[in-house]
Amino acid sequence: MDLQKLLREMTVDEKLAQMTQLVPQIITDKGEGAVTGPMRNFGITKKVTSRIGSVLGISGAKKLKDLQDFHLAEDPHKIPLLFMADVIHGYRTIYPVPLGIGASFDEELAEKCSAMAAKEASVGGIHVTFAPMTDLVRDARWGRCMETTGEDPYLNSKMAQAMVRGFQGDLGKDNIAACVKHFAAYGACDGGRDYDAVEMGDHTLREYYLPAYKAAVDAGVELLMTSFNTLNGIPSSANKYLVNDILRKEWGFDGIVISDFNAFYEMISHGICENEKECAEKALNATSDIEMMSTCFVKFGKALLEEGKISEEQIDNAVMRILKLKEKLGLFDNAYRAASEEDEQKIHLCPEYRELARIAAEKSAVLLENNGVLPFRKDVKKIAIIGPVADHGMTGGWYCCGKSSEAISVIQGIKNAIPNAEIAFARGCSAEPNEKAEDVIEQIFEAKRIAQDSDIVILCLGEEIDMSGEAHSRARISVSDSQTRLIKEVCEVNKNTAVVFYCGRPLALEKIKDVAPATIIFWHPGTEGGNALANLLFGNVNFQAKLPMSFPYEGQSPYCYNHLRTGRPSTNGGYCLGYRDNPYEPVYPFGFGLSYTTFDISSPTLSSEELTEEGEIVVSVTVKNTGKCEGIETVQLYIQDVTASIARPVKELKGYQKVTLAPGEEKVVTFKITVEKLKFHTFEGKFEAEKGKFKVFVGNRSDIESFEVFRLI
Ligand code: NOJ
Repeated sequence: MDLQKLLREMTVDEKLAQMTQLVPQIITDKGEGAVTGPMRNFGITKKVTSRIGSVLGISGAKKLKDLQDFHLAEDPHKIPLLFMADVIHGYRTIYPVPLGIGASFDEELAEKCSAMAAKEASVGGIHVTFAPMTDLVRDARWGRCMETTGEDPYLNSKMAQAMVRGFQGDLGKDNIAACVKHFAAYGACDGGRDYDAVEMGDHTLREYYLPAYKAAVDAGVELLMTSFNTLNGIPSSANKYLVNDILRKEWGFDGIVISDFNAFYEMISHGICENEKECAEKALNATSDIEMMSTCFVKFGKALLEEGKISEEQIDNAVMRILKLKEKLGLFDNAYRAASEEDEQKIHLCPEYRELARIAAEKSAVLLENNGVLPFRKDVKKIAIIGPVADHGMTGGWYCCGKSSEAISVIQGIKNAIPNAEIAFARGCSAEPNEKAEDVIEQIFEAKRIAQDSDIVILCLGEEIDMSGEAHSRARISVSDSQTRLIKEVCEVNKNTAVVFYCGRPLALEKIKDVAPATIIFWHPGTEGGNALANLLFGNVNFQAKLPMSFPYEGQSPYCYNHLRTGRPSTNGGYCLGYRDNPYEPVYPFGFGLSYTTFDISSPTLSSEELTEEGEIVVSVTVKNTGKCEGIETVQLYIQDVTASIARPVKELKGYQKVTLAPGEEKVVTFKITVEKLKFHTFEGKFEAEKGKFKVFVGNRSDIESFEVFRLI
């Protein structure tokens, strides 16, 4: 396709329509499709809607083919629509929420899951996913923790790249284009309140928040979504520093920049634009290409051009980026692309995908406590399953086309695994965070009764899937009064109890920590949750995941393990960093997670005590399985820059490796340290390493204390 010729033939109005994205109901007048923001009468004509460039919030091969036909019949240039959707943790087969994938510390898994989602979405007619979301988060109150891979820039970057690889592959028909979001620092919203403002210095922005978006750009992501929030007073949609200077010029990104839902229009509410015309001007001048769910471009772009406030070249650049993506995806040759009802039947929820979803749920579950009660014996006769989330599928917040009814509940999973046991179920309480124990006391007694009467108890608590996600921030992250009481009562009458928390964010577990014989974080596990849980509880598979976010005490958020050092560290007694009513350190730190076996990790040995600019140091540890079953340990490398021109974190993750060991087996694990791992953003805006002393920590959690030292010379 001669795209330059096509561009020349398009009128300005047609170009502006190409730069607009709407939900299908506005185009077809039929009330279908998902809407995740405000709807209003946009006051645009059919002439505009028939020339629109892309559509969001619709899925299904038949529907999308029909919509494509409807559009192509009207569009004078026959430019196919791009179909975009939130394929975040699966399309029809749902795997754990991204926070769970982060916990796996398994890039291959992240890539495979994304590739599966891409294939399912592609046959369902989708061309672009609004993923990965790589926003770094330190505040457990934020609802969208579930969509991130956590609090660490290194882990987030690795996961972002794996997901981009998985979704996009070679952009063949099995793949879809990825859109990294939400640029930038959306996860640092004030007070963990979704959509709230972000105030942040350049150093913190570049050091912690930008690396994962950059990693996605380096991995070749096709699109980037700007965020809702203001950053230092400027909404991202109009933030020339972020988009023109950093993204386009510094990082060389020439893909599509798309707004978030209605975000251009919302610049009026932010108070930086008086009207839609100003919104269009500011967004265009920040090199935005697609306007999602508002119509400032189509309504005012032409007038801005006539007034000389924007140039036709700016519009052409944007349109060309959109046309190029359509061409790359093969839409000019086949506007249906991979959409196929027949393939939907074949591929969606096929056994191979269900198996991958199960493995992903197993690899993402974090074992926080186990006094030896787990794994349960398989010859148990009576099992009590208790809790408000045990009897239905727990897909997770962005379930896309997944259905709870197609997901395996805990009850079903346990029945599948231990078919001869008698199962008793009681809800015990609800997942409502403000529920008081006294309001459900009879339910709690009933739960206690079946617990007393059973060999083992599986308590399934925490958050329903709609308690985290967009617009689902919580002021308090503690386990509710009713759930806490239920745990206490049940554990009192039956010591063979495992408490399984479903959640899309870290929960404050201080009241539970010493009560439950075993505690598991199962996130929102997806289609195969129940089967995966049964495999874990009965020891068919071992736990291997680690926390991708610290689990803080109530009131401690925001918290991160890689915080800066202070003049008065929390270990120094009075008049030092901390709280009067809480410890400073979290209940469970980043990187922590148990296994059914135990591991011994030796102190690190360094190949040299000095590192030169061109050289490398090899760090070696011997990891030994000291327990009774096979297990997988995630060995983590952390570095502290002891003295630098600006304060540096207590430690930072710089590498991790998974090692599988049989009982008694040991292996040497090595990491290479080069100067690249020591670079940081200096006060003068440089990215470089400074000579001097560094500490090296290797272990299986972020709060390891022992270290070795080397010098960069
Ligand atoms: C708003 C969300 O912030 C974004 O993540 C999502 O992709 C869009 N809505 C489209 O649904």
